[in-house]
Amino acid sequence: MNVDIQAIRSDTPLLASTVYMDTAAASLPPDAVLDAVRTYVLDTGHIGIYLPAFRKATYERVEGVRQRLALFLGAQPQEVAFTKNATESISLIARGIDWQRGDEVLVADTEMLSNLLPWRRLEVTHGVVVKMVASDAQGRLSPEAFAQAVTPRTRLLTFSHIPNSTGVVQPAAEICAVARKHGFWSLVNASQSVGLVGVDVEHIGCDFLAGCGRKALRATEGTGFLYIREALIGSIEPVLAGWWNGSYDRQTGALSFVAGARRFEAGCPIVPSIVGLGAALDYATRIGIEAIEARVQELTAYAIGHLSGIDGFELYGPPDAKGRIGIVPFNLRGTDPSRIVAALEQQHCIIEAGGFMADAILARYGVSTMARVSLHYFNTREDIDHMVAAIRAIRAIRNLQPIHRTSKEHS
Ligand SMILES: Cc1ncc(COP(=O)(O)O)c(C=O)c1O
Repeated sequence: MNVDIQAIRSDTPLLASTVYMDTAAASLPPDAVLDAVRTYVLDTGHIGIYLPAFRKATYERVEGVRQRLALFLGAQPQEVAFTKNATESISLIARGIDWQRGDEVLVADTEMLSNLLPWRRLEVTHGVVVKMVASDAQGRLSPEAFAQAVTPRTRLLTFSHIPNSTGVVQPAAEICAVARKHGFWSLVNASQSVGLVGVDVEHIGCDFLAGCGRKALRATEGTGFLYIREALIGSIEPVLAGWWNGSYDRQTGALSFVAGARRFEAGCPIVPSIVGLGAALDYATRIGIEAIEARVQELTAYAIGHLSGIDGFELYGPPDAKGRIGIVPFNLRGTDPSRIVAALEQQHCIIEAGGFMADAILARYGVSTMARVSLHYFNTREDIDHMVAAIRAIRAIRNLQPIHRTSKEHS
């Protein structure tokens, strides 16, 4: 494993003073990413954003990032589009399919709003039927559960490779094989998995994959992406149209779009974000995805092992670290999770609490809110010890004092 953890940590100065455990929301970009963004933005003003030579180099750079992103995903460059975020990627597919009334979409019950609302909206606008596919009691999805829901009207299935509220690594290839076997499409929401575990679209066998760069890849905001299998590019209507992706022949009135997945991008690309995404891909590639996965897996087991010793600790999802990675959702019996977040903040430790916009799976757990620790390779066992000690301290205070909840804590 070529992870020089001290060198990695020194690339992110905040880690010297703060325990950061909210990568599942957004991670801390390393300085190499911030420098790439800053340099580009300064150059736009200092060199001249539309200086022809600079603009040409900028567009070449954008295409260079597209190539590196494609390589990272096991795709071809013409199969990858830049978007603003994963929600946009999912919506581009949901709105781009030629739905017929009564078509069916299978959506896993593990999904957060961004992979639910685009499909639910089709029920209203296109008469599409959304069928929810249940995960098991530990949040695991099975290919069989999807297969049972298939009918002749099924056109697409979708699920998160790693849901944000469980951290379960779903059997993506097996689930997508169900879609292939029955001749319909699969969309993998890889928002949490790209940069954390190996994601190879050929291996997974998906037709579409949506992701974002600001989580495990450690890019900045504004770095969504969409993979579309090449053979399907012509079957999906480009929802966004304008310069960059299309043209209009005034004589004939004909509209045309550029080749490849770039046709799903319209208007000025978000170059600062794309440049940062390129630096983030280089950074992750230097460490190596196997090394990242192995380290986060080991830290996840360490965190669960130590948190489990705390009185009242309730873990959601699988009972241990097996089959999950990075994300540790939990409650302390009798303690509002927002109190845990607030107490940890005072100890310079950042975690998150809430419903994570994943109502269906939280309802299965019988809760409406929970705390969530999410780890990345830059975390250490000492970080986890610090976090566990801080939670133990909350527990100790709670045992001494009755809690006076405020109405805000219940919201
Ligand atoms: C599983 C999952 N899907 C989708 C999203 C939405 O991502 P974005 O904000 O990039 O649209 C998130 C991010 O919070 C997520 O965790």
